[in-house]
Amino acid sequence: MEPFILRGNYIWSEGPAELRLMPRAWGVCDDKGRCAGVFGVLPAEYAGLPVRDLGEALILPGYSDLHTHAAQYRHMGLGMDYELIGWLSRLTYPEEARFADEDFSRRVYGRFAEELRAGFTTRACIFASAHRRGTEVLMELLEQTGLRTLVGKVNMDRNAPDYIREPSPEAALSDTERWLSETAGRFRNTGPILTPRFVPSCAPETLAGLGRMRKARHVPVQSHLDETPEEVAWVRELCPDSPSYAAVYEEAGLLGPDTVMAHCIYLTEPEIELMRESGTFIAHCPASNMNVRSGIAPVRKYIDMGLNIGLGTDISGGHSLDMAQAVRDALSASRLLWRLGEEKLPHLTAAEEIGRASCRERV
Ligand code: GUN
Ligand code: FE
Repeated sequence: MEPFILRGNYIWSEGPAELRLMPRAWGVCDDKGRCAGVFGVLPAEYAGLPVRDLGEALILPGYSDLHTHAAQYRHMGLGMDYELIGWLSRLTYPEEARFADEDFSRRVYGRFAEELRAGFTTRACIFASAHRRGTEVLMELLEQTGLRTLVGKVNMDRNAPDYIREPSPEAALSDTERWLSETAGRFRNTGPILTPRFVPSCAPETLAGLGRMRKARHVPVQSHLDETPEEVAWVRELCPDSPSYAAVYEEAGLLGPDTVMAHCIYLTEPEIELMRESGTFIAHCPASNMNVRSGIAPVRKYIDMGLNIGLGTDISGGHSLDMAQAVRDALSASRLLWRLGEEKLPHLTAAEEIGRASCRERV
């Protein structure tokens, strides 16, 4: 592409807790579409490049949404009277089942992709549904937006109604292999991400098979972890031989620096250690955590303990695709946690949360 300059009031995060402001600065976009630098005075080497002057407009890095569900787009803001497990079975599964229909997928995913494109998010990790063809449609539509995204065909082969459940671990794994093969090399900006829904939905063979796929194909992973006390107790019942919920993923070979685990509200100390050692990312989803009454994640504690953590909108647990709203929600939740005396550590600051939401190389 042709390099160019964007002029305006720049704001970005220099480090985990530091915002940098540069009024009326020159931002250079290089021939690969990357930012070559932001300068108060334009260096001579860039003189002569075309300039787009945005006057007093604010220019900031794009946001990375680490966790959201495209197949729940129509349900944003609905069903908030339920807690997670009831909400999934009463609202979410019937809605996601509709993505077996390709025309329906194209219509809804088209609206989702358009709203994402029009907003401030430039990168995202996205759950589709359990349907292979619908997931491919979502990838095709997202590719047209120019956004950088990772998209997952959901795996769920147990503890879900027949109308949405994959019939067996073998079927789940072979459908996932087929999806990976059929989409390989087709897209520039849209990639696959392995997506076991959460431990209650996936038989041990499914998790182990996905772990092998991750290793063989170097594909990233996303899932849910420690979102509600009811869910944590259920996992303890389903996996009595594992020391913890996080350990179930670890044993299947699913944790690592290319894995994103959503929520992580109730991590125990050994789980924190597993997350830290493996470099697994947490997607903090404050709106969803409040809407379906899951809880408030102790983010300050996780940051101080060296965990990797970013922000997610998690529609439709969350009610907005706007990552600026996720920043505000993360701040509100953190202040509330401090006031409730649950966390003695200081609450988060705006600079930190904007930094957390901004582009990360990895995603
Ligand atoms: N856990 C398993 N599936 C889901 C989902 O769709 N949304 C949320 N918030 N949590 C989940
Ligand atoms: Fe989620």
